[in-house]
Amino acid sequence: MSEKKHRVSRRQFLTYTLTGVGGFMAAGMLSPMVRMALDPALEATGDSEFVAVGLGEDELTEEPQIVNFELEIEDAWYTSEQPRSAWIYKDGDEIIALSPICTHLGCTVNWDANEDYPEQFFCPCHFGRFERDGTNVAGTPPTRPLDVYDVEVRDGMIYLGQINQRS
Ligand code: FES
Repeated sequence: MSEKKHRVSRRQFLTYTLTGVGGFMAAGMLSPMVRMALDPALEATGDSEFVAVGLGEDELTEEPQIVNFELEIEDAWYTSEQPRSAWIYKDGDEIIALSPICTHLGCTVNWDANEDYPEQFFCPCHFGRFERDGTNVAGTPPTRPLDVYDVEVRDGMIYLGQINQRS
């Protein structure tokens, strides 16, 4: 057998090398996309995790107070901090954390903000109203209650988790 048959030409060498590098890069880019396609649980999972809101259990009152916090949202390409808020208060032994997003068209509700409707959440956009427990007041535009967060207390501090829709 002649030595010539075992030689790899410069052109072949470059072809093999570039094909290898190209394939490696393509696999690196495609694998997160394939994982996302095959496993929907890998989609933005930030809302399922509990986040500290910087409020101690002993700071809670029966009067709803607003807390602002940041939620880390991860997707296939990057992680971002997104602002969230909750109206949080104590109801006997229970801790209630309500979303401030009006269930009519998404404006922000405020507690005890309209003197005609004391002790209610009031939405200034179309005068939507909610009771203290988040129930929508009949005859106002919202047709379902305010959403509620899962709540946990860890070492005396309040953590909020997934947000839940009620009907
Ligand atoms: S958005 Fe709140 S009442 Fe319409």
